[in-house]
Amino acid sequence: THTTTLIRNGRIITASDDYVADVLLQDGKVHTIGKGIEVGPDVRVVDASGLYVLPGGVDTHVHLENVIGPTITTDTFASGTKAAAFGGTTTIVDFALQTELDSPLGAIARAQRSAESQVNVDYSLHVIIKRVDEQVLRDVRHAMHFEGVTSFKMFMAYPGVMMADDASIFRMLRQVGADGGMVALHAENGTVIDLLIKEALEAGHTSPRYHALTRPSLMEGEATHRGIRLAELAQAPIYFVHVSSNDALKHIVSARAEGIPVFAETCPHYLLFDDSVYDNDDFETAKYVMTPPLRKPDDQKHLWRALRYDDLQVIATDHCPFCMKEGHLGLRSSKLRGTKNFAEIPNGAPGIETRLVSLFDIGVMQGKLSLNRFVELTSTTPAKLFGLFPKKGTVAVGSDADIVLFNPNVSQTIHAKHLHSNCDHTLLEGRSLQGRVEKVFLRGNLIVDGEHWHGREGMGQFVKRGEVRAF
Ligand code: URP
Ligand code: ZN
Ligand code: ZN
Ligand code: ZN
Repeated sequence: THTTTLIRNGRIITASDDYVADVLLQDGKVHTIGKGIEVGPDVRVVDASGLYVLPGGVDTHVHLENVIGPTITTDTFASGTKAAAFGGTTTIVDFALQTELDSPLGAIARAQRSAESQVNVDYSLHVIIKRVDEQVLRDVRHAMHFEGVTSFKMFMAYPGVMMADDASIFRMLRQVGADGGMVALHAENGTVIDLLIKEALEAGHTSPRYHALTRPSLMEGEATHRGIRLAELAQAPIYFVHVSSNDALKHIVSARAEGIPVFAETCPHYLLFDDSVYDNDDFETAKYVMTPPLRKPDDQKHLWRALRYDDLQVIATDHCPFCMKEGHLGLRSSKLRGTKNFAEIPNGAPGIETRLVSLFDIGVMQGKLSLNRFVELTSTTPAKLFGLFPKKGTVAVGSDADIVLFNPNVSQTIHAKHLHSNCDHTLLEGRSLQGRVEKVFLRGNLIVDGEHWHGREGMGQFVKRGEVRAF
């Protein structure tokens, strides 16, 4: 029942190639790539002259329907994946949270039950592991071998909510690494940061800017270094999420130079904005309450350098949307929880729909990233590191026909009201960006056509992932 489509004359950009050719999509896969492919009248032909043909984006850090302490992110699997699709992302990896009661397998099953009927793009899950014991380790092994869940997230931050101790992280690294999977780490020194928060509140500092002032980059650096040494001892690869500062980056750079398999992502907001937004002391600043907080222009300079020279390998969004007003889920998904106390503001910012276009504008257009590198950072390497490649992450014969037709020659102005997230704001409101996602195919199905939506909730598939392909 798949439509066959011929994409004619587009400029195909992969992590390694750049050439003009036709692409025939059939049975959900890329069937043929070549010049002057001839097709019959029953085949849909799309003229892609002047457009880039990119592999669908792979966003390996998103929070849809995530329960975080007393809060819940405001996008459902339905709204979040529709927004992803409009932004040119055809595969997401969300989180399944291990609760006190259930095993990692229960967490996976629960997230799948909720996602199944809603997802508009393909998806997988990292399991957040809060507590490690023999049974948990057995279930983690089972998830790796039988459920196709090959990555696990752990937190060095958020004591009492998410934080795992060093020995637990080490045990996970040792087993998951040996089994060919990946542990992803949120690296911040949680207990010191909690002390700084407590002291700030006691001193009467309650406004949003104190979120940033109580999460210093040195404590990101300290935890990053600790994570690296744990991984080194465990002889396991490790992946750092949302790297924001040079204090963290410098440990990653030197570990990689020593040959330790350390991988890391940054997020568009760390490249787009700096800590000058916190100069504003009113509640609008709650928009920028994400973790880690925005850093200095000097940190941005180092992030760009690391992106160029492969010390950072992935740009993912950490899309973690909360409304500025009361959301459709009320105060549970609203930043308003923290009007009197910055520590109660749910952490996170939206960004799932604007990743490709914002990076195209500030990266490719500004000469900071090549087109190939842009594709590598947003699609190919995340697919490789998390066991999705070559099904996902490239335009190649036999790969899934997840294709984005991207127009580099038009600009657009971003407004939250035109985006598809349930979130009531975007950090990019009113910003003009060069480039636009014109058409998106998910396994050969045209789901986005300009402003038109042709996708269907539930058409996304759970993708069983394989081993890490990191070296
Ligand atoms: O601010 C953020 N990033 N919120 C989501 C939780 C996390 O730390 O990833
Ligand atoms: Zn985090
Ligand atoms: Zn996150
Ligand atoms: Zn249409």
